Amino acid sequence: MSFPKDFIWGVSAASYQIEGAAHEEGRGLSVWDMFCRKPGAVWNGHSGDVACDHYHRYKEDVSLMKSLGVKAYRLSIAWPRILPTGTGTVNTKGLDFYDKLINELLSAGITPYVTLFHWDYPYELYCQGGWLNRCSPDWFTEYTQVVVDKLSDRVQHWMTLNEPQCFIGLGLYEGRHAPGDKLGVSEILRAAHHVLLAHGKSVQVIRARAKTPSQVGYAPVGVTKMPATDSPADVEAARQAMFSIKDDGVTWNNTWWMDPIFLGHYPEDGLQFYGKQVPTIRPGDLETIHQPLDFFGVNIYQGVFVRAGQAGQPEIAPFPVGAEQTAYDWAITPSALYWGPRFFHERYKLPIVVTENGLSSTDWVSLDGHVHDPQRIDFLSRYLLELQRAIQDGVDVRGYFQWSIMDNFEWGDGYRERFGLVFVDYQTQKRTPKDSAYWYRDLIAANGNGLLKKGPG
Ligand code: FCB
Repeated sequence: MSFPKDFIWGVSAASYQIEGAAHEEGRGLSVWDMFCRKPGAVWNGHSGDVACDHYHRYKEDVSLMKSLGVKAYRLSIAWPRILPTGTGTVNTKGLDFYDKLINELLSAGITPYVTLFHWDYPYELYCQGGWLNRCSPDWFTEYTQVVVDKLSDRVQHWMTLNEPQCFIGLGLYEGRHAPGDKLGVSEILRAAHHVLLAHGKSVQVIRARAKTPSQVGYAPVGVTKMPATDSPADVEAARQAMFSIKDDGVTWNNTWWMDPIFLGHYPEDGLQFYGKQVPTIRPGDLETIHQPLDFFGVNIYQGVFVRAGQAGQPEIAPFPVGAEQTAYDWAITPSALYWGPRFFHERYKLPIVVTENGLSSTDWVSLDGHVHDPQRIDFLSRYLLELQRAIQDGVDVRGYFQWSIMDNFEWGDGYRERFGLVFVDYQTQKRTPKDSAYWYRDLIAANGNGLLKKGPG
Protein backbone atom coordinates (compact mmCIF):
# COMPACT_ATOMS: atom_id res chain seq x y z
CA MET A 1 0.00 0.00 0.00
CA SER A 2 1.17 3.49 -0.78
CA PHE A 3 -0.29 6.78 0.35
CA PRO A 4 -4.08 6.92 0.64
CA LYS A 5 -6.03 8.05 -2.41
CA ASP A 6 -6.92 11.52 -1.16
CA PHE A 7 -3.65 12.16 0.58
CA ILE A 8 -3.04 15.90 0.98
CA TRP A 9 0.32 16.79 -0.51
CA GLY A 10 0.98 20.32 0.61
CA VAL A 11 3.52 23.06 1.13
CA SER A 12 3.64 25.58 3.94
CA ALA A 13 4.84 29.05 4.84
CA ALA A 14 3.97 31.76 7.35
CA SER A 15 3.02 35.41 7.06
CA TYR A 16 5.98 37.18 8.66
CA GLN A 17 8.46 34.86 6.99
CA ILE A 18 7.41 35.62 3.40
CA GLU A 19 5.01 38.55 3.07
CA GLY A 20 7.19 41.62 3.51
CA ALA A 21 5.16 44.85 3.03
CA ALA A 22 5.54 45.20 6.75
CA HIS A 23 4.62 48.86 6.79
CA GLU A 24 2.15 48.96 3.94
CA GLU A 25 -1.58 49.31 3.62
CA GLY A 26 -2.28 49.81 7.28
CA ARG A 27 -0.53 46.81 8.78
CA GLY A 28 0.22 47.39 12.46
CA LEU A 29 3.41 46.41 14.22
CA SER A 30 4.06 42.93 15.48
CA VAL A 31 6.49 41.83 18.16
CA TRP A 32 8.71 40.52 15.37
CA ASP A 33 9.00 43.98 13.77
CA MET A 34 10.20 45.32 17.09
CA PHE A 35 12.48 42.39 17.88
CA CYS A 36 14.24 42.72 14.52
CA ARG A 37 15.13 46.30 15.41
CA LYS A 38 17.02 45.24 18.52
CA PRO A 39 20.75 45.22 17.84
CA GLY A 40 22.07 41.68 17.83
CA ALA A 41 18.65 40.04 18.12
CA VAL A 42 18.50 38.60 14.59
CA TRP A 43 21.38 37.27 12.54
CA ASN A 44 23.04 40.09 10.57
CA GLY A 45 20.27 42.49 11.56
CA HIS A 46 17.84 40.94 9.09
CA SER A 47 14.10 41.55 9.31
CA GLY A 48 10.88 40.54 7.60
CA ASP A 49 10.32 44.07 6.23
CA VAL A 50 10.60 42.85 2.65
CA ALA A 51 11.12 39.09 3.02
CA CYS A 52 9.99 37.35 -0.20
CA ASP A 53 7.72 40.25 -1.09
CA HIS A 54 4.93 37.70 -1.27
CA TYR A 55 2.40 40.43 -0.46
CA HIS A 56 2.98 41.82 -3.94
CA ARG A 57 3.97 38.61 -5.68
CA TYR A 58 1.35 36.23 -4.37
CA LYS A 59 -0.01 35.57 -7.86
CA GLU A 60 3.37 34.43 -9.11
CA ASP A 61 3.80 32.31 -5.99
CA VAL A 62 0.43 30.65 -6.34
CA SER A 63 1.14 29.91 -9.97
CA LEU A 64 4.43 28.30 -8.93
CA MET A 65 2.52 26.13 -6.48
CA LYS A 66 0.09 25.24 -9.21
CA SER A 67 2.90 24.24 -11.53
CA LEU A 68 4.11 21.82 -8.83
CA GLY A 69 0.64 20.34 -8.54
CA VAL A 70 0.39 20.85 -4.80
CA LYS A 71 -3.00 19.99 -3.40
CA ALA A 72 -2.91 22.34 -0.45
CA TYR A 73 -1.09 25.37 0.87
CA ARG A 74 -0.70 26.10 4.57
CA LEU A 75 -0.52 29.86 5.08
CA SER A 76 -0.83 32.02 8.14
CA ILE A 77 -2.59 35.30 8.66
CA ALA A 78 -0.82 38.29 10.14
CA TRP A 79 -2.99 39.39 13.03
CA PRO A 80 -1.69 43.01 12.94
CA ARG A 81 -2.53 43.24 9.25
CA ILE A 82 -6.15 42.56 10.12
CA LEU A 83 -6.35 44.45 13.41
CA PRO A 84 -3.41 46.87 13.47
CA THR A 85 -3.61 47.36 17.22
CA GLY A 86 -4.71 43.79 17.90
CA THR A 87 -8.36 44.60 18.68
CA GLY A 88 -10.86 47.23 17.59
CA THR A 89 -10.52 48.79 14.17
CA VAL A 90 -10.33 46.38 11.27
CA ASN A 91 -7.93 47.12 8.41
CA THR A 92 -9.97 46.18 5.36
CA LYS A 93 -6.96 46.38 3.05
CA GLY A 94 -5.25 43.72 5.11
CA LEU A 95 -8.31 41.49 4.98
CA ASP A 96 -8.54 42.07 1.23
CA PHE A 97 -5.06 40.70 0.73
CA TYR A 98 -6.05 37.34 2.22
CA ASP A 99 -9.34 37.45 0.38
CA LYS A 100 -7.48 37.75 -2.93
CA LEU A 101 -4.91 35.16 -1.95
CA ILE A 102 -7.61 32.63 -1.06
CA ASN A 103 -9.40 33.26 -4.36
CA GLU A 104 -6.15 32.86 -6.26
CA LEU A 105 -5.48 29.54 -4.51
CA LEU A 106 -8.96 28.22 -5.11
CA SER A 107 -8.89 29.09 -8.77
CA ALA A 108 -5.56 27.25 -9.00
CA GLY A 109 -7.24 24.19 -7.46
CA ILE A 110 -5.22 24.49 -4.23
CA THR A 111 -6.93 24.04 -0.87
CA PRO A 112 -5.99 26.71 1.67
CA TYR A 113 -5.08 25.53 5.17
CA VAL A 114 -5.13 28.65 7.32
CA THR A 115 -3.15 29.05 10.54
CA LEU A 116 -4.55 31.92 12.57
CA PHE A 117 -1.41 32.60 14.56
CA HIS A 118 2.13 31.90 13.47
CA TRP A 119 3.99 34.24 15.84
CA ASP A 120 3.43 37.79 14.54
CA TYR A 121 1.70 38.96 17.71
CA PRO A 122 0.35 42.54 17.71
CA TYR A 123 2.86 44.80 19.43
CA GLU A 124 0.09 46.92 20.97
CA LEU A 125 -1.27 43.90 22.79
CA TYR A 126 2.20 42.93 23.92
CA CYS A 127 2.37 46.35 25.56
CA GLN A 128 -0.77 45.43 27.45
CA GLY A 129 0.86 42.30 28.82
CA GLY A 130 0.49 40.05 25.80
CA TRP A 131 -0.18 36.42 26.63
CA LEU A 132 0.28 37.15 30.34
CA ASN A 133 -2.93 39.12 30.32
CA ARG A 134 -6.04 37.10 31.17
CA CYS A 135 -7.82 39.09 28.41
CA SER A 136 -5.51 37.68 25.75
CA PRO A 137 -7.81 34.75 24.88
CA ASP A 138 -10.60 37.26 24.23
CA TRP A 139 -8.35 39.35 22.01
CA PHE A 140 -7.57 36.25 19.99
CA THR A 141 -11.26 35.40 19.83
CA GLU A 142 -12.09 38.83 18.44
CA TYR A 143 -9.43 38.45 15.78
CA THR A 144 -10.61 34.92 14.92
CA GLN A 145 -14.12 36.21 14.46
CA VAL A 146 -13.06 38.88 11.96
CA VAL A 147 -11.10 36.35 9.92
CA VAL A 148 -13.74 33.65 10.03
CA ASP A 149 -16.50 36.07 9.05
CA LYS A 150 -14.49 37.14 6.03
CA LEU A 151 -12.97 33.89 4.78
CA SER A 152 -14.99 30.94 6.02
CA ASP A 153 -17.28 30.93 3.00
CA ARG A 154 -14.21 29.60 1.16
CA VAL A 155 -11.74 28.42 3.79
CA GLN A 156 -12.66 25.11 5.40
CA HIS A 157 -9.38 24.08 7.05
CA TRP A 158 -8.15 25.95 10.08
CA MET A 159 -5.35 25.71 12.58
CA THR A 160 -5.46 27.96 15.61
CA LEU A 161 -1.84 28.25 16.77
CA ASN A 162 1.56 27.27 15.46
CA GLU A 163 4.07 25.82 17.92
CA PRO A 164 3.26 27.36 21.28
CA GLN A 165 6.39 25.63 22.60
CA CYS A 166 8.34 28.10 20.47
CA PHE A 167 6.47 31.36 20.79
CA ILE A 168 6.25 30.91 24.54
CA GLY A 169 9.46 28.94 25.11
CA LEU A 170 11.80 30.76 22.74
CA GLY A 171 9.91 34.05 22.85
CA LEU A 172 9.07 34.55 26.52
CA TYR A 173 11.40 32.22 28.37
CA GLU A 174 14.68 31.93 26.48
CA GLY A 175 14.43 35.32 24.79
CA ARG A 176 15.78 34.03 21.49
CA HIS A 177 12.61 34.87 19.58
CA ALA A 178 10.29 37.88 19.71
CA PRO A 179 9.43 39.53 21.98
CA GLY A 180 12.76 38.49 23.52
CA ASP A 181 11.71 38.16 27.15
CA LYS A 182 13.17 35.96 29.85
CA LEU A 183 10.33 35.44 32.26
CA GLY A 184 10.13 33.09 35.20
CA VAL A 185 8.47 29.71 35.10
CA SER A 186 5.25 30.76 36.82
CA GLU A 187 4.79 33.60 34.30
CA ILE A 188 5.46 31.19 31.46
CA LEU A 189 2.87 28.76 32.75
CA ARG A 190 0.35 31.56 33.15
CA ALA A 191 0.97 32.68 29.56
CA ALA A 192 0.68 29.06 28.44
CA HIS A 193 -2.68 28.71 30.14
CA HIS A 194 -3.95 31.77 28.29
CA VAL A 195 -2.60 30.40 25.03
CA LEU A 196 -4.54 27.19 25.59
CA LEU A 197 -7.68 29.15 26.44
CA ALA A 198 -7.18 31.24 23.31
CA HIS A 199 -7.05 28.06 21.28
CA GLY A 200 -10.28 26.71 22.82
CA LYS A 201 -12.18 29.96 22.42
CA SER A 202 -10.98 30.36 18.88
CA VAL A 203 -12.23 26.85 18.02
CA GLN A 204 -15.61 27.76 19.50
CA VAL A 205 -15.78 30.84 17.28
CA ILE A 206 -14.90 28.87 14.17
CA ARG A 207 -17.55 26.27 14.98
CA ALA A 208 -20.18 28.89 15.74
CA ARG A 209 -19.60 31.24 12.83
CA ALA A 210 -18.07 29.32 9.92
CA LYS A 211 -20.22 29.57 6.81
CA THR A 212 -19.11 26.22 5.43
CA PRO A 213 -18.34 22.94 7.23
CA SER A 214 -14.87 23.27 8.73
CA GLN A 215 -12.02 21.05 9.77
CA VAL A 216 -10.18 22.48 12.75
CA GLY A 217 -6.79 21.57 14.14
CA TYR A 218 -3.75 22.89 15.96
CA ALA A 219 -0.07 22.77 14.97
CA PRO A 220 2.25 22.26 17.94
CA VAL A 221 5.83 21.04 17.75
CA GLY A 222 5.92 17.27 17.88
CA VAL A 223 8.78 16.68 20.30
CA THR A 224 9.67 13.23 19.02
CA LYS A 225 11.41 10.31 20.70
CA MET A 226 12.28 7.20 18.76
CA PRO A 227 13.21 3.85 20.31
CA ALA A 228 16.91 3.11 19.96
CA THR A 229 16.00 -0.46 18.91
CA ASP A 230 12.75 -2.22 18.08
CA SER A 231 12.76 -4.08 21.39
CA PRO A 232 9.49 -3.70 23.31
CA ALA A 233 11.41 -2.23 26.25
CA ASP A 234 12.95 0.51 24.11
CA VAL A 235 9.64 1.23 22.39
CA GLU A 236 7.98 1.64 25.77
CA ALA A 237 10.85 3.83 27.00
CA ALA A 238 10.49 6.09 23.95
CA ARG A 239 6.73 6.32 24.42
CA GLN A 240 7.16 7.27 28.06
CA ALA A 241 9.82 9.86 27.30
CA MET A 242 7.73 11.39 24.56
CA PHE A 243 4.84 11.99 26.93
CA SER A 244 6.73 13.04 30.01
CA ILE A 245 7.31 16.61 31.13
CA LYS A 246 10.47 16.60 33.07
CA ASP A 247 12.82 15.15 30.49
CA ASP A 248 12.58 18.29 28.45
CA GLY A 249 12.79 21.20 30.81
CA VAL A 250 10.26 23.96 31.02
CA THR A 251 8.52 24.32 27.67
CA TRP A 252 10.03 21.75 25.34
CA ASN A 253 7.53 18.98 25.82
CA ASN A 254 4.35 17.66 24.29
CA THR A 255 1.89 16.99 27.03
CA TRP A 256 1.64 20.40 28.72
CA TRP A 257 0.57 21.80 25.34
CA MET A 258 -1.47 18.85 24.14
CA ASP A 259 -3.15 16.98 27.00
CA PRO A 260 -5.40 19.90 28.05
CA ILE A 261 -6.49 20.37 24.45
CA PHE A 262 -6.97 16.75 23.45
CA LEU A 263 -7.67 15.07 26.78
CA GLY A 264 -9.12 17.88 28.89
CA HIS A 265 -6.56 17.91 31.69
CA TYR A 266 -3.00 18.93 32.43
CA PRO A 267 -0.56 16.01 32.71
CA GLU A 268 -0.18 14.75 36.26
CA ASP A 269 3.62 14.61 36.15
CA GLY A 270 3.69 18.25 34.99
CA LEU A 271 1.43 19.39 37.80
CA GLN A 272 3.79 17.73 40.24
CA PHE A 273 6.94 18.93 38.52
CA TYR A 274 5.86 22.59 38.35
CA GLY A 275 4.08 22.48 41.71
CA LYS A 276 3.28 25.94 43.07
CA GLN A 277 4.20 27.57 39.80
CA VAL A 278 1.10 26.22 38.07
CA PRO A 279 -1.37 29.11 37.59
CA THR A 280 -4.86 29.21 39.01
CA ILE A 281 -7.13 27.20 36.79
CA ARG A 282 -10.62 28.61 37.03
CA PRO A 283 -13.70 26.42 36.88
CA GLY A 284 -14.66 25.90 33.25
CA ASP A 285 -11.18 26.66 31.86
CA LEU A 286 -10.38 23.08 30.95
CA GLU A 287 -13.77 22.60 29.31
CA THR A 288 -13.09 25.68 27.18
CA ILE A 289 -9.64 24.41 26.23
CA HIS A 290 -10.86 20.89 25.46
CA GLN A 291 -12.82 21.47 22.25
CA PRO A 292 -13.36 18.60 19.82
CA LEU A 293 -10.90 18.82 16.92
CA ASP A 294 -10.88 17.21 13.50
CA PHE A 295 -7.21 16.53 13.04
CA PHE A 296 -3.94 16.50 14.91
CA GLY A 297 -1.58 18.87 13.07
CA VAL A 298 2.04 18.47 14.04
CA ASN A 299 5.42 19.85 12.98
CA ILE A 300 8.19 17.27 13.01
CA TYR A 301 11.75 17.86 11.83
CA GLN A 302 13.85 15.60 13.99
CA GLY A 303 13.84 13.44 17.09
CA VAL A 304 16.14 11.83 19.61
CA PHE A 305 16.65 8.16 20.36
CA VAL A 306 15.63 6.73 23.70
CA ARG A 307 16.33 3.35 25.26
CA ALA A 308 15.27 1.54 28.39
CA GLY A 309 17.81 2.28 31.12
CA GLN A 310 18.89 0.06 34.01
CA ALA A 311 15.63 0.05 35.91
CA GLY A 312 13.60 0.23 32.69
CA GLN A 313 13.29 4.03 32.89
CA PRO A 314 13.88 5.95 29.66
CA GLU A 315 17.29 7.38 28.88
CA ILE A 316 18.60 9.25 25.87
CA ALA A 317 20.76 7.18 23.53
CA PRO A 318 23.34 9.72 22.30
CA PHE A 319 23.91 10.15 18.58
CA PRO A 320 27.02 8.40 17.33
CA VAL A 321 30.02 10.50 16.35
CA GLY A 322 29.50 11.80 12.83
CA ALA A 323 25.71 11.49 12.86
CA GLU A 324 24.17 13.26 9.88
CA GLN A 325 22.93 16.83 10.25
CA THR A 326 21.27 19.46 8.10
CA ALA A 327 22.84 22.87 7.46
CA TYR A 328 20.99 24.06 10.56
CA ASP A 329 22.68 21.38 12.68
CA TRP A 330 19.39 19.58 13.07
CA ALA A 331 19.75 15.82 13.32
CA ILE A 332 18.61 13.81 10.32
CA THR A 333 16.31 11.21 11.84
CA PRO A 334 13.80 9.90 9.28
CA SER A 335 12.18 7.54 11.77
CA ALA A 336 10.85 10.62 13.61
CA LEU A 337 8.18 10.60 10.90
CA TYR A 338 7.27 7.04 11.83
CA TRP A 339 7.31 7.15 15.61
CA GLY A 340 6.02 10.70 16.00
CA PRO A 341 2.76 10.15 14.10
CA ARG A 342 2.41 6.67 15.59
CA PHE A 343 2.76 7.73 19.21
CA PHE A 344 0.55 10.82 18.76
CA HIS A 345 -2.11 8.80 17.03
CA GLU A 346 -2.08 6.20 19.78
CA ARG A 347 -2.44 8.77 22.52
CA TYR A 348 -4.75 11.37 21.01
CA LYS A 349 -6.68 9.20 18.55
CA LEU A 350 -7.14 11.80 15.84
CA PRO A 351 -6.16 11.72 12.17
CA ILE A 352 -2.65 13.10 11.78
CA VAL A 353 -1.64 15.88 9.42
CA VAL A 354 2.08 16.63 9.28
CA THR A 355 1.85 20.40 9.08
CA GLU A 356 5.62 20.97 8.71
CA ASN A 357 8.67 18.91 7.80
CA GLY A 358 11.78 19.80 5.84
CA LEU A 359 15.35 21.02 6.16
CA SER A 360 17.66 23.91 5.42
CA SER A 361 20.61 23.29 3.18
CA THR A 362 23.36 25.36 1.56
CA ASP A 363 21.67 25.87 -1.79
CA TRP A 364 22.79 28.24 -4.52
CA VAL A 365 22.16 28.83 -8.21
CA SER A 366 24.67 26.78 -10.21
CA LEU A 367 26.45 27.97 -13.35
CA ASP A 368 23.83 26.12 -15.35
CA GLY A 369 21.13 28.31 -13.81
CA HIS A 370 19.54 25.51 -11.80
CA VAL A 371 19.57 24.86 -8.08
CA HIS A 372 20.76 21.33 -7.35
CA ASP A 373 19.75 20.16 -3.91
CA PRO A 374 20.17 16.39 -3.82
CA GLN A 375 20.31 16.44 -0.03
CA ARG A 376 16.77 17.76 0.16
CA ILE A 377 15.50 15.07 -2.19
CA ASP A 378 17.25 12.39 -0.20
CA PHE A 379 16.13 13.80 3.15
CA LEU A 380 12.49 14.06 2.09
CA SER A 381 12.57 10.60 0.52
CA ARG A 382 13.85 9.07 3.71
CA TYR A 383 11.32 10.87 5.89
CA LEU A 384 8.41 10.10 3.57
CA LEU A 385 9.34 6.43 3.46
CA GLU A 386 8.97 6.41 7.22
CA LEU A 387 5.65 8.23 7.04
CA GLN A 388 4.50 5.68 4.52
CA ARG A 389 5.57 2.90 6.87
CA ALA A 390 3.48 4.48 9.63
CA ILE A 391 0.47 4.51 7.31
CA GLN A 392 1.10 0.87 6.42
CA ASP A 393 1.14 0.06 10.12
CA GLY A 394 -2.29 1.58 10.54
CA VAL A 395 -1.59 5.18 11.55
CA ASP A 396 -4.26 7.43 10.09
CA VAL A 397 -2.16 10.10 8.35
CA ARG A 398 -4.15 12.39 6.10
CA GLY A 399 -1.59 14.86 4.80
CA TYR A 400 1.95 16.14 4.63
CA PHE A 401 3.02 19.78 4.27
CA GLN A 402 6.58 20.39 3.22
CA TRP A 403 8.29 23.34 4.90
CA SER A 404 8.63 25.44 2.91
CA ILE A 405 7.40 26.38 -0.53
CA MET A 406 10.23 28.92 -0.75
CA ASP A 407 13.29 30.15 1.09
CA ASN A 408 12.27 32.70 3.69
CA PHE A 409 13.00 34.63 6.87
CA GLU A 410 14.06 32.01 9.39
CA TRP A 411 13.30 34.01 12.54
CA GLY A 412 16.38 34.65 14.70
CA ASP A 413 18.58 33.29 11.94
CA GLY A 414 17.35 35.72 9.32
CA TYR A 415 17.89 34.67 5.71
CA ARG A 416 20.85 32.45 6.57
CA GLU A 417 18.83 29.23 6.39
CA ARG A 418 17.28 28.11 3.11
CA PHE A 419 14.34 25.81 3.75
CA GLY A 420 12.56 26.24 0.40
CA LEU A 421 11.66 24.02 -2.50
CA VAL A 422 12.03 27.26 -4.45
CA PHE A 423 15.19 29.33 -4.22
CA VAL A 424 14.69 33.05 -3.58
CA ASP A 425 17.27 35.62 -4.68
CA TYR A 426 16.54 38.34 -2.15
CA GLN A 427 18.24 41.03 -4.26
CA THR A 428 16.01 40.53 -7.29
CA GLN A 429 13.17 38.48 -5.77
CA LYS A 430 13.68 35.99 -8.57
CA ARG A 431 12.28 32.56 -7.75
CA THR A 432 14.07 29.47 -9.05
CA PRO A 433 12.51 26.10 -8.33
CA LYS A 434 15.17 23.79 -6.95
CA ASP A 435 15.60 20.25 -8.25
CA SER A 436 13.62 19.13 -5.21
CA ALA A 437 10.63 21.19 -6.36
CA TYR A 438 10.46 19.18 -9.59
CA TRP A 439 11.02 16.00 -7.63
CA TYR A 440 8.15 16.91 -5.29
CA ARG A 441 5.95 17.70 -8.31
CA ASP A 442 6.58 14.22 -9.72
CA LEU A 443 6.09 12.63 -6.34
CA ILE A 444 2.70 14.32 -5.94
CA ALA A 445 1.67 13.31 -9.45
CA ALA A 446 2.46 9.70 -8.58
CA ASN A 447 0.79 10.01 -5.15
CA GLY A 448 4.08 8.97 -3.57
CA ASN A 449 4.37 5.82 -5.65
CA GLY A 450 7.62 4.46 -7.00
CA LEU A 451 9.72 7.51 -6.33
CA LEU A 452 10.74 6.65 -2.84
CA LYS A 453 13.64 4.35 -3.46
CA LYS A 454 16.23 3.40 -0.95
CA GLY A 455 19.03 3.62 -3.51
CA PRO A 456 21.69 1.12 -4.54
CA GLY A 457 22.40 -1.87 -2.32
C1 FCB B 1 9.29 25.78 12.69
C2 FCB B 1 8.46 27.03 12.44
C3 FCB B 1 8.53 27.53 11.03
C4 FCB B 1 9.93 27.44 10.48
C5 FCB B 1 10.49 26.05 10.66
C6 FCB B 1 11.86 25.84 10.08
O1 FCB B 1 9.61 25.71 14.04
O2 FCB B 1 7.11 26.75 12.72
O3 FCB B 1 8.03 28.85 11.00
O4 FCB B 1 10.72 28.41 11.03
O5 FCB B 1 10.51 25.74 12.03
